Amino acid sequence: MRIGLDEAVERLQRGEVIAIPTETVYGLAAPLANPQAIEQIFRLKQRPQENPLIIHLADATDVETYATNLPPGLRALTDAFWPGSVTFILPIDPATVPAVARASLPTAAFRIPHHALARSLTRRVGALVAPSANLSGRPSATTPEHVEQDFGFDFPVLDGGPCVVGIESTILIYVGDKWMITRLGALSAEAFRAVLGYVPALYVAPKAESVVICPGQHFRHYAPKAQLVLGAGAYPGDPVNVLGFDDRTYSGAHQVISLGNMTDPEIACQRLYSALRSLDEKGLSQVWVDMHFPDTGLWKTLAERLRRAAQK
Ligand code: TXA
Ligand code: MG
Repeated sequence: MRIGLDEAVERLQRGEVIAIPTETVYGLAAPLANPQAIEQIFRLKQRPQENPLIIHLADATDVETYATNLPPGLRALTDAFWPGSVTFILPIDPATVPAVARASLPTAAFRIPHHALARSLTRRVGALVAPSANLSGRPSATTPEHVEQDFGFDFPVLDGGPCVVGIESTILIYVGDKWMITRLGALSAEAFRAVLGYVPALYVAPKAESVVICPGQHFRHYAPKAQLVLGAGAYPGDPVNVLGFDDRTYSGAHQVISLGNMTDPEIACQRLYSALRSLDEKGLSQVWVDMHFPDTGLWKTLAERLRRAAQK
């Protein structure tokens, strides 16, 4: 059920969970101040309790309400990238963030979305937690139709049309004396060089540590029902279904589901979840994925999502 902004505000204030648009992906939102509604998000998504949620704020200064010991460089990063598609993991005062939202960790994740409707909601309702609006493990939702596919037509969706970015925020954490990336996302690692003076590396933790620093890396993600066969080399030439690019030739393919042109990784990321969901709509059981693209910038985000989507 599509709803407007005023109804979205009322429902959130009544403690209902609704889907909201952000520029990255749709989120399943509840007020940070309402732990019962937050528990409902976990039930609806069938999300493991150990996987914490991102807190969406109205203003950068709101971070100080929750976070303690702000890491060096945070202010320069938020000045440069908020509102926008980047999330920061920060140490918090546990009294200020319900344990259910942060999987009882001593940290929490914060972001200010760029989307006008999301910003109106946080201004009117206060801080909102919002994981991506998909059933746990499935491709994320970048349109109201995707939300309806997972949660049904009766589920309330604040309609913001298709997401312009279409892939989740990049997540940064300060470890040791450097910022590091715990989830590749809408902003490439290189995008942070101008502010940090270096390109943040991907955080790869030993297992014991990683449940605390990047819990999201432990769960199944983004997977369609179709089996994805990741093709790093040349197109095998068999009559297969292909997830690929308009400016490549796949002679003899049954059908080609396109992520756009090889010149534009932003478009490829933006189309990814619609493309993955369309494989299931078409009832395809196996799809060969063209992974023969550069290992730079946003292509790295695309490759990571495809690798995880291929895991069963
Ligand atoms: O673009 C986005 O980030 C979207 C929109 C809706 O804002 N949200 C999103 O949420 O992708 P979700 O729940 O699908 O992914 C949140 C990620 C998970 O991998 C989770 O483990 C990580 O953030 N996370 C949340 N709190 C954390 C914390 N305290 N420490 C480490 N990772 C955390
Ligand atoms: Mg998600």
